[in-house]
Amino acid sequence: MRKFFGTSVVAISAAAMLALAGCGSGRDGDSGSSGEAAKGFPANSLIGVALPAKTSENWVLAGDLFTNGLKEAGFEGNVQYAGASTTVADQQAQITSMVTKGAKVIVIGATDAAQLSTQVAAAHAAGVKVIAYDRLITNTPDLDYYVAFDNFKVGQLQGQALLEGMKAKKPNGPYNIELFSGSPDDNNAGVFFNGAMDVLKPEIDKGNVVVASGQKEVKQTAIQGWKAEGAQARMDQLLTSTYGNKELDGVLSPNDTLARAILTSVKGAGKPTPIVTGQDSEVESVKSIVKGEQYMTINKDTRNLVKETINMVKALQAGDKPQVNDTTSYNNGSKVVDTYLLPPVAVTKANAAEAYANDPKLAPLTK
Ligand code: BGC
Repeated sequence: MRKFFGTSVVAISAAAMLALAGCGSGRDGDSGSSGEAAKGFPANSLIGVALPAKTSENWVLAGDLFTNGLKEAGFEGNVQYAGASTTVADQQAQITSMVTKGAKVIVIGATDAAQLSTQVAAAHAAGVKVIAYDRLITNTPDLDYYVAFDNFKVGQLQGQALLEGMKAKKPNGPYNIELFSGSPDDNNAGVFFNGAMDVLKPEIDKGNVVVASGQKEVKQTAIQGWKAEGAQARMDQLLTSTYGNKELDGVLSPNDTLARAILTSVKGAGKPTPIVTGQDSEVESVKSIVKGEQYMTINKDTRNLVKETINMVKALQAGDKPQVNDTTSYNNGSKVVDTYLLPPVAVTKANAAEAYANDPKLAPLTK
């Protein structure tokens, strides 16, 4: 068991994931051979989608895809975002209002993993199914399903790319690096960090990689609210405190927004560009990768994540059990949550054209 911000989550290997994929619980739900009527709900029911603040492009995309996808599937979708400053209270109120309006399923991209148990319990008590989207909701037995990209794998891919990128640029270490992690209220932040450290820690222990500031604990590296200005300010401080006459070889950045802020800081200080990781395949970061600035990102195609979530909603509507492919990894502190995980893909300049070939928005940027 790995502990992430008070939540224990077991990470599974890619091999185990492949073995699990496709042999999940299947669509073997309530409408089985007993002849009982399915316990679904009317096809035009209200489906609530409560998303966090628009801290990265993926959330903006998700909102549009949910609005269109739910409509296409015949549901009445209600997509809400939390505001930038009162995120938790906004989201709590939005979920409560979706329950009152009679939503049959509520999909939640949590603003704060640990602050939704009251609302999720109320939803459950009203017979509403709750799906955690992208981010796990912790400390509640009332969460029904989780759908996400394999977050631990995302971190491992970032760690591997950081090592490979530094080695390609400078064959011999030791390499000086700095570590950044996401917002502590997002369960994913700790999972990404632990995935990356799974790869980096052995190299740090051997002395091949040095966190020159000494700031190796997740708490020291966290950027509240995933805010670009927070990452830029921390990088500014690190450059002043630690890199007066030391070379910075690499930075573990958990996502693209923070990666670009880190690069802005390094540029502003007139330092050479280090190897910087990212995640989300944001337009500006893909451009930066093609230009040779940001080193890598992760492709987590939001279209697929939303599609799988809507598939879950459709199964529930039909009275079936949604398909899951992981029933062991995500213990939210109260229960192990039935999960559908999708595989993330690491993208550097070398494979960008191939990775985004089917993405009409990103493919032209790689030509
Ligand atoms: C998502 C990332 C995103 C971050 C900030 C995380 O929970 O998984 O894709 O970069 O939130 O919005």
